[in-house]
Amino acid sequence: MGLFVTFEGPEGSGKTTQIRLLAEWLRARGADVLLTREPGGTRIGDAVRGLLLDPANTEMRSETEFLLFSAARAQIVGQVIRPHLARGGVVLCDRFADSSLAYQGYGRQLDLALLRTVTTFATAGLTPDLTVCLNLPVLEGLRRKQGGDQGEWNRMERERLEFHERVHAGFLSLAAAEPSRWLVLDAMRGVDEVQEEIRKRVGGLLA
Ligand code: TYD
Repeated sequence: MGLFVTFEGPEGSGKTTQIRLLAEWLRARGADVLLTREPGGTRIGDAVRGLLLDPANTEMRSETEFLLFSAARAQIVGQVIRPHLARGGVVLCDRFADSSLAYQGYGRQLDLALLRTVTTFATAGLTPDLTVCLNLPVLEGLRRKQGGDQGEWNRMERERLEFHERVHAGFLSLAAAEPSRWLVLDAMRGVDEVQEEIRKRVGGLLA
């Protein structure tokens, strides 16, 4: 019943490039691919995304932030992801619940057990079949973002370096705790080389 693959990693790790290349490859093989991202992916989720990323929202509490990410997640899971998986399709999502554990859990230092409980509620227990983590040093990722044409940094990107370091370590801990679900790849390597490894793993899951 479908295949659900999520992409995670710190800022500037090249998730968006890799996810697009994977979508192209899967479509060429005849898969029914839905490519989406969090927060967002629905009309309601996009409205919530605006609240979350607006640099003007400096007074936002960590609890509020987590609940808004979770609200957007509940919407996309029910409205978009589950129906597509039920039709036998492939869903590729740029960030998912592991980002909340890494950013709000390890980064903001909210209680991980509570976050997991709310996440199970928001997703009704949906977990990815595979989570690809594109790993690179935090400073390198931020440098790449700065060099990009993204314009102003969003509210999360403006966080201090220690925050991003905790997030990065958080992703690695999450991956280490569930090695069969995670594929951690060194994003300092070339785009093609990284893509090759992702295709190998996803191809295996489809076979
Ligand atoms: P976005 O511009 O989509 O960043 P990226 O290209 O790095 O994915 O902004 C999303 C930001 O929100 C990003 O900094 C990660 C953060 N985030 C969380 O803090 N918690 C979450 O649950 C999710 C999905 C994202």
